[in-house]
Amino acid sequence: MKDPRDRAIAELFDGHWNRNYTASKLRTDPLYQALAATLADSPMPLLDLGCGLGLSAFFLRSRGIEVPIHGLDYDERKIDGARLAAKRGGFRDLSFSAHDARRGLPSHRGNVSILDILQFFTPDEQETLLHQAAERVAPGGLLVIRSGLKDDSMRFRITVAGDLLAKATLWMKAAPTHYPTAADFERLLAPFGSVEISPLWGGTPFNNHLIVLRRTPQP
Ligand SMILES: C[S@@+](CC[C@H](N)C(=O)[O-])C[C@H]1O[C@@H](n2cnc3c(N)ncnc32)[C@H](O)[C@@H]1O
Repeated sequence: MKDPRDRAIAELFDGHWNRNYTASKLRTDPLYQALAATLADSPMPLLDLGCGLGLSAFFLRSRGIEVPIHGLDYDERKIDGARLAAKRGGFRDLSFSAHDARRGLPSHRGNVSILDILQFFTPDEQETLLHQAAERVAPGGLLVIRSGLKDDSMRFRITVAGDLLAKATLWMKAAPTHYPTAADFERLLAPFGSVEISPLWGGTPFNNHLIVLRRTPQP
């Protein structure tokens, strides 16, 4: 069902394509609701890695989550679009910067999100990114990840095909490189706290999962 708050987010962008993409993405993808539900009770600032057009940030604001949010993405066109949309919306404490996450992460202490970007990284780059992201999560804070998981399902094969199509249509700058398994997340993140992995595909055909690390609070 259409939510007027999602239409209001779509109206922040220039051009029919961006607006229609945004409206349809917010309506059909359970990612943003899941992110808002996971972060709802946390007062910590959020670092959003691979933020794209900043949809997560705008969605969180539209659902009353007012923590400072900084998004970064290596696609300058998307960062320009996110900045313009933030200005149009008159939001406070939202910032976006063009940055390649493979070159290290800015200093941060709070919550971190990595939504649908890991597939563009090699296995080594994924390990480094997850390690650096987890280090930036404050005690009691959350690392929220959405990723397609590598397994032997038809959903996984459809996920790969979808990412290849995004590259072919030039919506994504890069083709998918590598998909992590559930065991990879357990191995890499368990040293930092508790890890929960659950399906997050909603009505989509993709093999998307939500991975949440809750960093161990200080004693
Ligand atoms: C599928 S989109 C997801 C966008 C956003 N996280 C969301 O869920 O609405 C993947 C994003 O990751 C970005 N990305 C890929 N590799 C990156 C890198 N090395 N550094 C920063 N951003 C990257 C892409 O430019 C793209 O905007």
